Amino acid sequence: MNKIIFTYFMFVFVIIALYGMAYAHVGYQFPSGENIFIESKCNSCHSVEAENIEAKIKKNSTNDLSDIDSKLDADFLAKYLTKTEKINDKMHPVVFKGSKEELKELTTWLKTINNKKCCN
Ligand code: HEC
Repeated sequence: MNKIIFTYFMFVFVIIALYGMAYAHVGYQFPSGENIFIESKCNSCHSVEAENIEAKIKKNSTNDLSDIDSKLDADFLAKYLTKTEKINDKMHPVVFKGSKEELKELTTWLKTINNKKCCN
């Protein structure tokens, strides 16, 4: 009999624990495009002056991405950053290693930069 009660309580405990874990996920926030940009270390080569992001490599200052929106659309950017598309016959030197969702967030963010710059 005791064994049955013990099993029952263990069962209830496991259910509560699972609920707790599910709840913990509600607080999780998907990183913003800007965070993904920094975390993916894009800023080791690129600055984004319009967002006050400085490049770690100063000599590469030609690679500022502030006006990226006017030239390329988000789908193209996603392909370029996963090396399935080229610009001027050249592939991007690094492959984006995050998830598809992160890539989408990143390219969507890149697309908004120029808008901000234009109208502030
Ligand atoms: C190792 C250095 C390096 C890193 C890291 C890097 N890039 Fe680049 N990126 C380049 C170079 C070099 C080019 C080609 C620049 C050119 O031709 O003007 C380029 C080009 C680009 C372009 C096209 C620019 C244009 O105007 O044609 C975009 C957009 C871009 N990178 C985004 C990113 C993103 C987003 C990341 C992070 C996931 C990243 N890059 C990480 C070096 C880098």
